[in-house]
Amino acid sequence: TERVLTGITTTGTPHLGNYVGAIRPSVEASRAPDVESFFFLADYHALIKCDDPARVERSRLEIAATWLAAGLDPQRVYFFRQSDLPETPELTWLLTCVTAKGLMNRAHAYKAATDVNLAAGKDVDADVTMGLYCYPILMAADILLFNAHRVPVGRDQVQHIEMARDIAQRFNHLYGRGRDLFVLPQAQIDEELATLPGLDGRKMSKSYDNTIPLFEGGPKALKEAVARIVTDSRLPGEPKDPDGTPLVTIYDAFATPEQRAEFRADLRAGLGWGDAKQRLVDLIESHIGPMRDRYAELMAHPERIEEILQDGARRARRIATPFLAELREAVGLRPMK
Ligand code: TYM
Repeated sequence: TERVLTGITTTGTPHLGNYVGAIRPSVEASRAPDVESFFFLADYHALIKCDDPARVERSRLEIAATWLAAGLDPQRVYFFRQSDLPETPELTWLLTCVTAKGLMNRAHAYKAATDVNLAAGKDVDADVTMGLYCYPILMAADILLFNAHRVPVGRDQVQHIEMARDIAQRFNHLYGRGRDLFVLPQAQIDEELATLPGLDGRKMSKSYDNTIPLFEGGPKALKEAVARIVTDSRLPGEPKDPDGTPLVTIYDAFATPEQRAEFRADLRAGLGWGDAKQRLVDLIESHIGPMRDRYAELMAHPERIEEILQDGARRARRIATPFLAELREAVGLRPMK
């Protein structure tokens, strides 16, 4: 059986980018026969970006409820909180010891921080924590602990998965003694949807404050966000360029091929931006409206979610604990003889 794994960092409210890039493909993948799926709330990763405990906690609940509302079946998949697995930080250390510092120097998140510092004339590493620097090693541990073959993610995570492969390869080489301890994971990317644009056309991201919320705030918040999508100033009746706005790309993420063609044709024929936005709201709502009701129901019962996560962690550890024992043995950490 093939193993599929992915995680979401618990620092914000789930947005359409998370849904299209990770939640929807992961739930779909988990329904295939002969697949074992591992989905988790990356709360250790959250500490890298966020020092507000209440926010991490709230976000964890929202992301868990979102995944369940989107159709994840906790009986069928391993659904857990990253921090409930002590094996993860332990494996992180084993991997840290074989990871070249130069590899981490090239990680996007770290480089972005140093670029900002350099541009501002500050020390290159100002405000960079070791958590940020080693972020890809923790992520490699998440993936390698379960020997995942496939990792459904958006484009921004691909580099991290390549790094996990590099780290796995190095570990196999050093400690495998002729066999592969780790599977080399592969990113699962939907080329068309790998980077969903936000309101301003840049990647939809909590850090750019350009997101469209998935469930929170109800249809009203969805409508308000869509109203803020940047378009040109062409009036109703004037032909529009369908490729000139994130509106169409977001529409595509939810539309059938026929709907896509029709939307483009109508824009070229002069459909007004206001009407186009209403169509986008209706389309998204037809997909997520029913899920939002389930979401509200789940958010009202955090104790049920907690139970599901605890159970998921127990089951996941039945795989992780013996595997980690094997890895400890492989590197020479074992009882005195
Ligand atoms: P995070 O929390 O930033 O994002 C969660 C998932 O959503 C995808 N995504 C997008 N996809 C398309 N368009 C967008 N605009 C968009 N914005 C976000 C991300 O690519 C991601 O798939 N480091 C990870 C969490 C993580 C993880 C892992 C993932 C920790 N361990 C192991 C996979 C495997 C992160 O911060 O994702």
